[in-house]
Amino acid sequence: MTAVAATPRKTVTLHRLREMHAQGEKITMLTAYDATFARVVDEAGVDCILVGDSLGMIVQGQSSTVPVTLDEMVYHTRCVARGNRSAWVVGDLPFGSYQENREQALRSSVALMQAGAHMVKLEGGGWTADTVHFLTERGIPVCAHLGLTPQSVHALGGYRIQGRDEAGVATMRKHATELAQAGAAMMVLELMPSSVAALVQADNPGLMTIGIGAGKATAGQVLVLHDMLHITRGKLPRFVRNFAAEGGTVDEAIARYVAAVKDGSFPDEALHAY
Ligand code: KIV
Repeated sequence: MTAVAATPRKTVTLHRLREMHAQGEKITMLTAYDATFARVVDEAGVDCILVGDSLGMIVQGQSSTVPVTLDEMVYHTRCVARGNRSAWVVGDLPFGSYQENREQALRSSVALMQAGAHMVKLEGGGWTADTVHFLTERGIPVCAHLGLTPQSVHALGGYRIQGRDEAGVATMRKHATELAQAGAAMMVLELMPSSVAALVQADNPGLMTIGIGAGKATAGQVLVLHDMLHITRGKLPRFVRNFAAEGGTVDEAIARYVAAVKDGSFPDEALHAY
């Protein structure tokens, strides 16, 4: 028997995401690195798929995201784009593909966009503002990434909570505002006290902040798919909830994640935040 494909939902656009944010509807994001999971995540109703360079650990078995190359990101973005039908696709610019100068960042972003990304994500503070401005002026939507920036794990001395002292909070807020003013439409806030993420969001009301270990004040949430399905081995960070714990199918676990983010029950400040 031939399977009948479910009717795809309406395409998620940047305009639609901004509308959701303006209306106070939480934005959902999960990682995917291949066509099959992209299809599953999309059909479960996740708003945004992140082709994250976390694939270095999840797919390649590396110990960090640092070894991931642009060619590898292009390959996985192409795979995801083939499986996805409706979700907004964010492609990670990997380590070394945008740090040199804004022209290098443009070339790398074009490669990801031509592979099927709708937006590129880059890590780092105010030093990336000029690049963010250069890309957005050229029609490339940008997601910034502050807090724990995994590509800088060696400089940061490990996967540590960021923004814990007054100076750290002030720097985070300054950088977030610089990036928002440079044109970043979205910003991942990773591993920081909930109060800090709340300040960044309040400072920049139009910015779509997407938290991971950053509490519930952000405009949306992101998790690594394999972590929230609890198929990643080893100790998982406190901010990960096992959405597969109740059993059922992968599709059901992802649907539970979507529902929990949308109704505000995930993250739970007592369990998943700092
Ligand atoms: O690469 C990735 O999966 C990410 C998320 C952890 C936000 O950047």
